[in-house]
Amino acid sequence: MYGDRKGSKVMKINFVSSLHRSMSSWHLLTILLLLLSLQLRLALGSFTLFGPAKKAELRDQVRQMFYHAYDNYMQYAFPHDELKPLTKTFTDSLGELGNLKLERLSEQYNGSALTLVESLSSLHVLGNSSEFEKGVLWLGENLTFDVDVRVSLFECNIRLLGGLISAHLLATDLSKKSFREPYKDQLLILANDLGQRFLRAFDTPTGLPYAWINLKHGVMENETTETSTSGCGSLILEMGALSRLTGKPEYEESALRALRKLWSMRSSLDLMGTTLDVTTGEWIEHSSGIGAGVDSFYEYLIKAHILFGRDEYWDMFSSAYTAVQKYFRHGPWYHEADMRTGKATHWQLTSLQAFWPGLQILVGDVLAANSTHREFFSVWERYGVLPERYLLDRDMLHPTEKYYPLRPELAESTLFLYQATRDPWYLEVGEAIINSLNVYTRVNGGFASVRDVTTMKLEDHQHSFFLAETCKYLYLLFDDTFLVNGNYVFSTEGHPLPVTHSWHEWIPSIYMESEAFEYKRGGKHVFKSAMSSKLCPVVKVSPVQGKFWVESACHVLDKRSNHKCQSDKECGVDATTCRQRTCSIAGYCGLWLVKF
Ligand SMILES: *[C@@H]1O[C@H](CO)[C@@H](O)[C@H](O)[C@H]1NC(C)=O
Ligand SMILES: *[C@@H]1O[C@H](CO)[C@@H](O)[C@H](O)[C@H]1NC(C)=O
Ligand SMILES: *[C@@H]1O[C@H](CO)[C@@H](O)[C@H](O)[C@H]1NC(C)=O
Ligand SMILES: *[C@@H]1O[C@H](CO)[C@@H](O)[C@H](O)[C@H]1NC(C)=O
Ligand SMILES: *[C@@H]1O[C@H](CO)[C@@H](O)[C@H](O)[C@H]1NC(C)=O
Repeated sequence: MYGDRKGSKVMKINFVSSLHRSMSSWHLLTILLLLLSLQLRLALGSFTLFGPAKKAELRDQVRQMFYHAYDNYMQYAFPHDELKPLTKTFTDSLGELGNLKLERLSEQYNGSALTLVESLSSLHVLGNSSEFEKGVLWLGENLTFDVDVRVSLFECNIRLLGGLISAHLLATDLSKKSFREPYKDQLLILANDLGQRFLRAFDTPTGLPYAWINLKHGVMENETTETSTSGCGSLILEMGALSRLTGKPEYEESALRALRKLWSMRSSLDLMGTTLDVTTGEWIEHSSGIGAGVDSFYEYLIKAHILFGRDEYWDMFSSAYTAVQKYFRHGPWYHEADMRTGKATHWQLTSLQAFWPGLQILVGDVLAANSTHREFFSVWERYGVLPERYLLDRDMLHPTEKYYPLRPELAESTLFLYQATRDPWYLEVGEAIINSLNVYTRVNGGFASVRDVTTMKLEDHQHSFFLAETCKYLYLLFDDTFLVNGNYVFSTEGHPLPVTHSWHEWIPSIYMESEAFEYKRGGKHVFKSAMSSKLCPVVKVSPVQGKFWVESACHVLDKRSNHKCQSDKECGVDATTCRQRTCSIAGYCGLWLVKF
C-alpha cells in the first residue's frame, strides 16, 4: 500500500539503544528471568486456551465482523465505492485514493462498486459461494470502466484489477461446483477492459507509467510526471496474471519493462529512492525505507518469482532484500536511508512497515521476522491499535499522523508467522487485534477508521481493504481450510492468486501443492517449501566445536528444485546479523554463529 510520506528531521539517537543504555545488566537479567517465566506460562496457558473450540469461536467472531462490514456496505453504500459507517452513507473514493490534494475530482463519477469487488475473494475464503455468485452476476451486467474519473494506477491495479482477476480465478473453480448459472468469464472481460485503459499510462519515454490516469480519457494533459517506487514497481502480479489469462502479452510486457527500468535506477548500494519522474527517469526523493512508497516493490519481486518462476525476479529480489537488511535494519527496527550513501535519514516506525515480517517468512528469515513483529505488536498493545507513524528518535507519535485506518499489515504478518511456526502465541496476538477492532472501531453502521490513537476518535470511513485484507487474514489465522486446499500467493491487497504449473517458466515440483509438501534430505531433515502455503520455517541448528551452524532450505528459496546454492551470493545476508551467508561444499546456504 502506499500513502504520502512526510519526513521528520534527521536525528541519530536510537530508540532501542537508548533503552538499553538505561538498563544495568542486573536489570536485564531480572527482566530476562521474568520474560522466561512469562513465556513458560504463556506457552502452557496458550496450550489450554487455544484448543479447537477457542479457535472456532474466534473464527466465527471474525466472520461476524466481515458480515457486519459487508452487509452495511451493501445496504448503505453499494454500488458506490466505500461505506461511511458513522453517517451510513457512501463515498466514491476511487478517485480520491492516494490523491491527497483531491485534484481534478470528477463530479460525474458514481462509483465502481469497489468494496464489492474487494470482498469477492474474502466471500470465497469464508465459504459463501451464493453471495459470491450474486456479486459476479451484478458486476458482469452493471460495472463499466468507461467513466470520467482520474485514478491512481497503483490503487486501481491492486484493488480493482487484482480483485477482479483473483475472483475470476476463484469463480472458474467454484462455477463447476456451486454456481447456479455457468460462469461466463464476466470478471475477466472486465479485467481486460480495465487493463486496456491502464496501457495508456505506460506511454512515456522511459516506459515508467504515469501515476494517474483518467479511466475514460487516458492520461490528462499536463498530468504530473512524479510517481513512487511502489506506484510503478508493483504492477507485475496483476498485469502478468492478466496476460496469462487473456493470452495478450502487452500487459505483462508493460509492467516488466517498467520494473526493469526502475531496477536499473538503483544505486551502487542496490538501494532505491521513493519518488521519481516518469519522463526523465530521475529520482526526486533519494531517501527510502520499507514503508510508504516502496513497500510493495519488494513484495512484488519475491511474489512474482513465486508466481511466474523467473530467475530474473529472484535475482532482483535477493539483491534488493540484502541491501534493505544491510542499510535499513537496526535491531528489530527499520529506518530510512539515502540510496546514494546508505546513511540513515529518518528514524520512524510506520504502520505499513508491519508487513515486512510476513515477507521475511517467504524467504525463511523467521528469527528476524519474529523479533520485528514483536516490536510492532508491543506498539499495538501500547496504543490499542497501530499508529500510522511514530518517531523513534524522539520517542513520540508523529504530530499529524496519529491515525489507524483499519490497516491489515500486522494481522498479515501474524498469520504468516503462525503458519511458519505454529506457535500459539500468534493466536493470542490475533485475539488481541480482534478485540481492539471490536472495542474501538466497531459502530452500528460498520467499522470506522481511528482518526487519533490517543483519543480513539473515529473517522467516517470504512476502507475496502478492511474487507479484502484485515478480515481475511484474521479469519485465516483461525481457520486455514482455504490454504490447505491450494497454494496461493496473496497480492499486496490480500487477493489470492493460485500458483500453477502453467504459469511457470520452469516447474520445480516442490512448488506444487499436489506434490511433495515436505521432503527429507539425508533421511533426517524435513523441509517445507517457502512456496507452499505452509511457508518456510525449518532452520537446522547444529553445534560444531562451540559454534553453531545455522542452515535453512529456504535461503535458496525454491529457485532450484533441490534447494542447492551455487555461490555465496545466492545465499544473501542473514537478516539478524547482516552477515553474508555462505554456500557450503554440499550446496546449502548457511551461517556460522558464535553465539546463538
Ligand atoms: C451520477 O449520479 C448523478 C446523480 O444521480 C447523475 O446526475 C449523473 O448523471 C450520474 N453520472 C453518471 C456518469 O452516470
Ligand atoms: C452469504 O452472505 C449473505 C450476505 O451477507 C448472507 O445473507 C448469507 O447468509 C451468507 N451465506 C452464508 C452461507 O454464510
Ligand atoms: C444491474 O443493475 C440493475 C439496476 O440496479 C438491477 O436491476 C439488476 O438486477 C442488476 N443486475 C444484476 C445481474 O444484478
Ligand atoms: C495545464 O496547462 C495549462 C496551460 O497549458 C494551464 O493553464 C493549466 O493551469 C495547467 N493545469 C494544471 C492542473 O497544471
Ligand atoms: C520469538 O521471540 C520470542 C521472544 O524473543 C521467543 O520466545 C520465541 O521463541 C521466538 N519464536 C521463534 C519462532 O523464533
